[in-house]
Amino acid sequence: MTITKTEKQSLIDLANEARRRAYVPYSNYPVGAALRTKTGRIFTGVNVENAAYPQTMCAERVAIFKAVSEGETDFEIIAVVTNNGGSPCGGCRQVMAEFGLDVVVLFGNGEGKMVHETTVRELLPEAFTPEHLVPDN
Ligand code: THU
Repeated sequence: MTITKTEKQSLIDLANEARRRAYVPYSNYPVGAALRTKTGRIFTGVNVENAAYPQTMCAERVAIFKAVSEGETDFEIIAVVTNNGGSPCGGCRQVMAEFGLDVVVLFGNGEGKMVHETTVRELLPEAFTPEHLVPDN
């Protein structure tokens, strides 16, 4: 299914709006994500930091875990917005890969402009995926 430019921009907008709810007292680097499932549902996420720094959770994973916890595991596209158009961390790429290498990934910046479009496959070449755990694979 093709995803229109307008749909992509609206996911960037949702991710950018979500950033206002980021809990970032330590880094002051708000990240927002907006994930659309193949059923058309949209889940947003923000980074949630913690005084015990390693317990911080990234925006992308919050969005993905919200979706999975609501019974959705088939994803179409995820938009990630940061001040400077930053790209998803390695941990988030691995979590994305669990649910499909063909998921489209958009990066947006603080002005709400889409700066890059890619896929999980491109972001995580030669990914370790659930298929590797199937016997004889
Ligand atoms: N962060 C994300 O939310 N997603 C990423 O993919 C990269 C990093 C957050 C974690 C932390 O709250 C802040 O950005 C700075 O690392």
